[in-house]
Amino acid sequence: MSSPDIVTKLAGAEALDEGAAIIKSGGVVAFPTETVYGLGADAFNEEAVAKIFEAKGRPQDNPLIVHIPSESWLGRVAAYVPDAAYELFDAFSPGPLTVILPKRSDLPLVTTAGLETVGIRIPNNDIALELIRRADTPVAAPSANTSGRVSPTRARDVYEDMAGRIPLILDGGRTDVGIESTVVTLAADTPTILRPGAVTAEMISEVLGEAVYFKGKVKVAEAPGMKYTHYAPRVPCIGALTPLDALAAAKERDNSVVVGESGFVREAEALGSRVVDLGDTPEKCMQNAFAALREAEKIYKFIVIEHFEGKKGYYALNNRLSKSYGGKVFCGEIAAKK
Ligand code: TXA
Ligand code: MG
Repeated sequence: MSSPDIVTKLAGAEALDEGAAIIKSGGVVAFPTETVYGLGADAFNEEAVAKIFEAKGRPQDNPLIVHIPSESWLGRVAAYVPDAAYELFDAFSPGPLTVILPKRSDLPLVTTAGLETVGIRIPNNDIALELIRRADTPVAAPSANTSGRVSPTRARDVYEDMAGRIPLILDGGRTDVGIESTVVTLAADTPTILRPGAVTAEMISEVLGEAVYFKGKVKVAEAPGMKYTHYAPRVPCIGALTPLDALAAAKERDNSVVVGESGFVREAEALGSRVVDLGDTPEKCMQNAFAALREAEKIYKFIVIEHFEGKKGYYALNNRLSKSYGGKVFCGEIAAKK
């Protein structure tokens, strides 16, 4: 498992300088943000960006988000910044929001996977902000997991996926938000959410003073990345809408576990299931979910995940977790055993 090629360092001043030097010289560094860990490189260096795709095994048609430390850098990445973008960044940045704008012509097409638009984000994490400032260049960074795997919320998760592939992980402890940023495009006719996150459609709509559309509700407009398998643990998973369903699903296989919100798993446990409690609020569940899946896959052979459909506050988390179980929700029996 261990590789002499990768080093994890607590992100102090020296490690930040080292990380910035790697980015300046065209390398890739993993760093924490408030959402998940990112795999960063100079957004303007084609070869460096190509290394990100290689390290992740990421399909070439899936664009990267470009990270900047403040609104004053928007012009370094975007060709044009509409008032609405300033309103959104003023309201939610630094924070878990990515805004899609027309890209500058000198931003390489490898970074945006051939699109004339670019996703821009100002992360709310001092290590990330300082790393980008010291590198003095916008930093392209997808989540630091192998493509298709559960996103990393701890340095050790990054290590698991990236050992031997990148030279440095900056360790900033557990991430706060726990799921990736909301992606909203202002490059469409109407503001449209391409990926839900902690910044909700309602919050964005309130700031913009107009309706915001989102995938699956009013208008279908997918972020290219949403079509791929995502968030998949290494063992089979299934969703369950009730604790009773969760118990029944778990009983179909040996060595299984039920993962969900406190109330849900308390009932499942009382019924006889082994459980992992994600917490008693949407925020806690978001923060804990990915690490819980990465731990559960090491111990158990089958994971039953609470299907949060319709549960208030859990929209974005349900969006991610339903991908972990491929949208399969238990309804009485599991046909084929893997
Ligand atoms: O919280 C986050 O956003 C994390 C941290 C590291 O900042 N990053 C992240 O990146 O989640 P990634 O690459 O795993 O997901 C980026 C998503 C993908 O679904 C991608 O297709 C979409 O954003 N995206 C990026 N640029 C886009 C563009 N120009 N147009 C449409 N979708 C875009
Ligand atoms: Mg990702």
